[in-house]
Order: sequence, then structure tokens, then C-alpha cells
Amino acid sequence: MPATVVVGVQWGDEGKGKIVDSAAESANMVVRFQGGNNAGHTLVVGGRKRVLHLVPSGILQSHATCIVGPGVVVDPRVFAEEIAAIEAEGLLPDPRRLLVSARAPLVMPYHCALDHLREARAGDGRIGTTGRGIGPAYEDLVGRRAIPYGLLGEPDAFRARLHGLLEEKNALIGHLGGDPLNADAIAEEYLALAPALLRHSADVTAETQDALEAGQEVLFEGAQGTLLDVLHGTVPFVTSSHTIAAAACTGLGIGPGRIDRVVGVTKAYTTRVGEGPFPTELEGEVGERLRSAGGEFGATTGRPRRCGWLDLVALRHASALNGCTELVVTKLDVLSGFESLQICTKYRLPDGSITRRFPPSGNLGDCEPLYEAVGGWMEDISDIREVSALPGAVHAFIERMESEVGVPVRTVSVGPEREATLRC
Ligand code: IMP
Repeated sequence: MPATVVVGVQWGDEGKGKIVDSAAESANMVVRFQGGNNAGHTLVVGGRKRVLHLVPSGILQSHATCIVGPGVVVDPRVFAEEIAAIEAEGLLPDPRRLLVSARAPLVMPYHCALDHLREARAGDGRIGTTGRGIGPAYEDLVGRRAIPYGLLGEPDAFRARLHGLLEEKNALIGHLGGDPLNADAIAEEYLALAPALLRHSADVTAETQDALEAGQEVLFEGAQGTLLDVLHGTVPFVTSSHTIAAAACTGLGIGPGRIDRVVGVTKAYTTRVGEGPFPTELEGEVGERLRSAGGEFGATTGRPRRCGWLDLVALRHASALNGCTELVVTKLDVLSGFESLQICTKYRLPDGSITRRFPPSGNLGDCEPLYEAVGGWMEDISDIREVSALPGAVHAFIERMESEVGVPVRTVSVGPEREATLRC
């Protein structure tokens, strides 16, 4: 299958990085197409844990070219740091194994300042962003005010653009109660990073199109999750990019007919970081148990994740939005030790009606989850390496997911290591 898109089908943190790392074993290219360093993709290989924010999760497979597409907003400070760490480990002997679009919009210090200031003033209306400037950076893309990555190679033009933009940004920052930023200081910091960063600049759209044309295997790595999509998610408690599979096309510049396979990654339960509705959230002891057993703390901000039961109404909706051709279920090991498990299959709406459909407004705050109990499994399954050796209750749980969502589960994961990913 030459072109595969891997996306999260919940609110992010489904374990996409780990799945992409495994799948990249046979891939020629791994491509990020949206989001920025609000993402935190955790990889555990050879007992060592790494968290990537901008570099694609194929970086540990030395044969794969890693691409950051024009749809990704790039904070050069974070990217330079991540590249230096990878180089120090000897993982990047050839800088051209990691390529970034010259068109990718830069995340600037004023984006981060505005993100923080707006959240601080929003009070109860805050979104709970990662504070990485992602929303304001995408606003500037759509507002046609973005500074592209390639402009780091033209210092005079970069400075002129920055001076022109900062006047308006500082007025806004001042209005929101912040201190003005200095254009010269920003230019100095960013241009000092330019030599290291420009070694990776490329026309990644053409490179990816050529690879697909030549029949190479390309993996598109989504960030965040479907329910955080800026248009289709639980608006306004969402991120600022399109997180659905179609964004692989727009975020890179390839036609929809190029995509052969869409893999939706879901946990065996649900988590969410930040504010916003979450019908199956468990606030008591069971939620705490999932959080500690699953190590549910944000990979980017360290915030405790909100935890709850699997929500198949949301999953069915997310699967349809992406056109998933298969599902991956991660963190099944975390559910060990529950005598019975709850799965949400319907919502009750405020007027008393019962529905299997996701509300068109995306306003889940009005939905009461209705559960079905399914049998749990008591044994530790984290050392199992063959799907056939998993307990019958795990098989029944997966079959219930498949029948409700109407998409086959082709891969399951029972632990953080590469070897704990099992093909069904
Ligand atoms: P932003 O993307 O930083 O603007 O944050 C907007 C919302 O998306 C917040 O609720 C964040 O917690 C959430 N979010 C952003 N990136 C991720 C991610 O990689 N995993 C999970 N939640 C995320």
C-alpha cells in the first residue's frame, strides 16, 4: 500500500507515534502534515523513551526520509533543539534525511505571547491550549501574514517582514496586558538558528509526489486527534488545524486519489487534555486508576489527562470523518484487572431521545452517555506477543468495537515498546 494516513480518532494521545514508528519499518517516507509542537509523540525503543514534537516518528527507522510538510507550523527554536538532540544520538548522519517545506509557517514569539495572554484572560472560557502559539500561528497563515520557513534564508527580507508585522502584534499584545516584543532581538535569535535549519529546507511537496509516483511507500503521520479538528471537532475546544485524514492532502499538496489506506488509532478507553466536553469522563476512583495505570500525563505539557470509558458514538463519527479503512486499538493492557468494562454506544439528549449519532453541533455537553457492560480480563497481557494468545474477553471487546464502528481492527497494542504492537 503506497500511501497510508495514520490519524488519531479521539482527542489526541492515542499512541500514533508508536504505531507510525512500527509501520515505518517498511516505509520510504514518513510525513507530518499538520499541527506543530503542540504534539508530543512518545516512542519507546530498546528501553529508551523519546518524545518528539516536530520531527516525524519515522526518525528512528534509519532508512526512512522524514518530511515536515507545508501544513505544519514550525517553531524554529523547538525544531533546532530537537534536531540537535537527534544528531547527538547519531540518528541523522545525513541532514537530507529530514526535510522541511520552505513554505511551512513559522511560529513566532508573538504567537506564543498571544496564546498565553488570550488564555489567561479567557477565565472559564479558556480552551486549555498547550501554550505553544499554534492557534495564533494558524491565524496568521489564513490571514496571509505568516513568515515562511524559507525566509530564514533571506535575512534582510526576514527582518523587514518582522518589523512590519510586529507593530500590529505589539499593539495587540499591549491591549491584552502583555509587554511589547523587540523585532531586532527576535530576528537575531531566529537568524542565528538559520544555518542549522536551512540544511533541511526543501520542496517537500515535489519530493513526496515523486516518491508516490515511483510507487514508494509513504506514511502520513497525523497529530492531535479527529475530535480536535478546527472545523469538525468539539468546537471551540479544539486545536487550530484540520486533524482529519483529508488534511494529509492539503497539508502536503497531493490529490485525494493518492491515498490508499486510512488507519484510525484509538485507545481502548478515552482521554482528553485541556477543556471541553467529554461525555464518558470518569472523575472518581476509576478515572484515577486509568490515569495512573496508563501514565496519562501530557507528553508536551505534563498536564494530567482526563480519563474515561471508550465512547463508540464518538468513534463511529470520527471513523466516518476520516474514511478509516482500519483501526488500531492501543493501551489494551491498561484495562487489565477490571471485572467488567463499560462501553458507551448511545447518547441520551436533553429532550430524552436516544441516539447513536454524534450531535451535529459537536456540543457534547448536552449528551448523557448510555453504556453497555462487557466482560473484562484480570490477567496482565503486556507480555503477550501474539493476538491469538490474548484472552477471549479481549477478543470479544475488539469484536464489539468492530461491529459498532463497522471498520476492522487490524492492529492492537499492549505496551509502550515497539514489540508490543501486534497485527491481527
Ligand atoms: P492548541 O493546539 O495548543 O491550541 O490547544 C488546543 C486544544 O488541543 C487543547 O485542548 C489542547 O490540550 C489540545 N491539544 C493540542 N495538541 C494536542 C495533542 O497533541 N494531544 C492532545 N491534545 C492536544
